[in-house]
Amino acid sequence: MADISTSFVGLHLQSPIIIGSSGLTRNLDKVKAFANAGAGAVILKSLFEEQIEAEAQSMEQHNDYTEASEYIAHYVRAEEVGRYLEQISHYKRELNIPVIASINCLRADSWVDFATRIQEAGADALEVNIMRLETDLYFDPLASEQNYCDIVKSLRSKLSIPIIVKLSRYHTALPALVDKLRASGANAVTLFNRSYQSDIDLNTEEFRSGDVFTHVGDFTDTLRFTALVSSLVPQVEISSSTGIYTWQEVTKSLLAGASSVQMCTALYKEGPSAISNALVALGMWMDKRGYRSVDEFRARLNGSTPEDVNVFERIQFMKYFGGRGDS
Ligand SMILES: Cc1cc2nc3c(=O)[nH]c(=O)nc-3n(C[C@H](O)[C@H](O)[C@H](O)COP(=O)(O)O)c2cc1C
Repeated sequence: MADISTSFVGLHLQSPIIIGSSGLTRNLDKVKAFANAGAGAVILKSLFEEQIEAEAQSMEQHNDYTEASEYIAHYVRAEEVGRYLEQISHYKRELNIPVIASINCLRADSWVDFATRIQEAGADALEVNIMRLETDLYFDPLASEQNYCDIVKSLRSKLSIPIIVKLSRYHTALPALVDKLRASGANAVTLFNRSYQSDIDLNTEEFRSGDVFTHVGDFTDTLRFTALVSSLVPQVEISSSTGIYTWQEVTKSLLAGASSVQMCTALYKEGPSAISNALVALGMWMDKRGYRSVDEFRARLNGSTPEDVNVFERIQFMKYFGGRGDS
């Protein structure tokens, strides 16, 4: 029988499938059911940098943005920061899988000090979801990358637990950024996070939020960049996220070089069977192919040099689009 256990940022996982950060992970019973189905670890719902800062400072400074200040004040009341720390300790006592905390942040600020309390509460690792939308026309893109590195450096100077950086797919040179994050102290990257989806209601002619769930086609970028980053920055582990629904995306991500994968939409839609079905099928595929452990095939398909990847992708593009007379 194939052994589907693996390791990620030094943690032993009973399987490579991690329960991705979302509201689902607030419910301990649900998390237990996912763990019983074979999940390797859980990432808690993100605490927002604003929540941590707001608890530390007076809300008065936000008075010029009434709507924002009210929303944040509401959020702080509903999601007390202290409760997050209690949740970590509680989950650590109740679960036999690693518990990874998550913070959604914008900049290296005083919230970083709070991260030490997350470590003290017993979190096995910290995932930081860095989400910035730069709207300044004169913004320097390098300053944005520096900000990512500053966040990781300040966390690294305070934490001994592994740091995982959850990134958006929208970076000009993702492998170069991941390498800078490595130099700043990151142990792994999660590829990719999901930003706010915007849509327009044609009846009211107003902006509204789009679908929170991902769709089948969303996996291609995950796979492509998992392979690329894994071959270029092998020192940084990858957790593939976005579009992982079945054993096929799990197995492809591992072949491309991921150490773990995260499921979110699949768990909302199918529940624990999404994990158990994927793991049974992964084991069967491994048996059929003669693999006894995940490490025997992990990163098998990232072996090309970056130049090969470039040439390969360019030729595929030419073959695909070059021959079409109608385009
Ligand atoms: C309802 C919902 C809530 C989410 N909340 C968070 C969150 O708090 N922090 C975070 O990093 N990602 C959050 N995510 C993003 C997921 O962790 C994941 O990155 C994204 O959904 C893509 O994975 P999927 O294709 O498996 O859904 C959320 C996703 C959903 C659908």
